[in-house]
Amino acid sequence: MELLDKLNWRYASKAMNGKKVAQDKIDTIIEAASLAPTSSGLQPFEIFVITNPEIKGKIRPIAWNQSVITDCSHLLVFAAWDTYTAERINKMFDLTNSIRGTKNEGWENYRQMLLNSYPQKDAEENFNHAAKQAYIAFSQSIAAAAFEGVDSTPLEGFDADALDEILNLKEKGLRSCVMLPLGYRDEEKDWLVNLKKVRKSKEDLVTLIE
Ligand SMILES: Cc1cc2nc3c(=O)[nH]c(=O)nc-3n(C[C@H](O)[C@H](O)[C@H](O)COP(=O)(O)O)c2cc1C
Repeated sequence: MELLDKLNWRYASKAMNGKKVAQDKIDTIIEAASLAPTSSGLQPFEIFVITNPEIKGKIRPIAWNQSVITDCSHLLVFAAWDTYTAERINKMFDLTNSIRGTKNEGWENYRQMLLNSYPQKDAEENFNHAAKQAYIAFSQSIAAAAFEGVDSTPLEGFDADALDEILNLKEKGLRSCVMLPLGYRDEEKDWLVNLKKVRKSKEDLVTLIE
């Protein structure tokens, strides 16, 4: 199947059948998130992979009681840094130096520039910036899941503060952004499965400037 066939096959599943997704597929979906581009390469987010039925059961009521939360195989939670700190920035720059085995003046100047800007900014502004990076990774996971023939439901309909509490995110310096239940569609229970995909026209989406 071509990329666009797979993306057309994908839809936001409203009902899943509880079937388990193989670990190698989950690994690929997570790896795709990790390979996403992020601003300055900071990857300012973490991904929680929940299979524990008790935790899923606690999350469902704070997520509009959406059945995919408990009927999915793996529930991914994308959580962004609550702010940018010098420690967090340095950790990623040090990691780059150690992986590449070099120290580069331009790169070190860039580190200083970030250290002189992000940590001084308002935490809410920083979180919003970090959350945007998490969404890019989230989107790559969605595409990777489709590529692997795994259904998913992008899911923002939840009480983020309540989810942060369930997963103890505050003490980790994280805030939940978005969830991605992964599993297999329940064709009988899902009202959306046979409905046509709706997208605005190319003319409404794209402006050519030639
Ligand atoms: C950030 C985001 C949050 C979403 N939240 C929910 C949600 O909480 N529940 C749900 O059923 N669908 C949710 N959706 C799915 C969208 O409604 C769906 O992607 C859109 O209607 C397009 O349909 P399609 O994905 O089936 O092509 C969300 C999608 C995105 C991208």
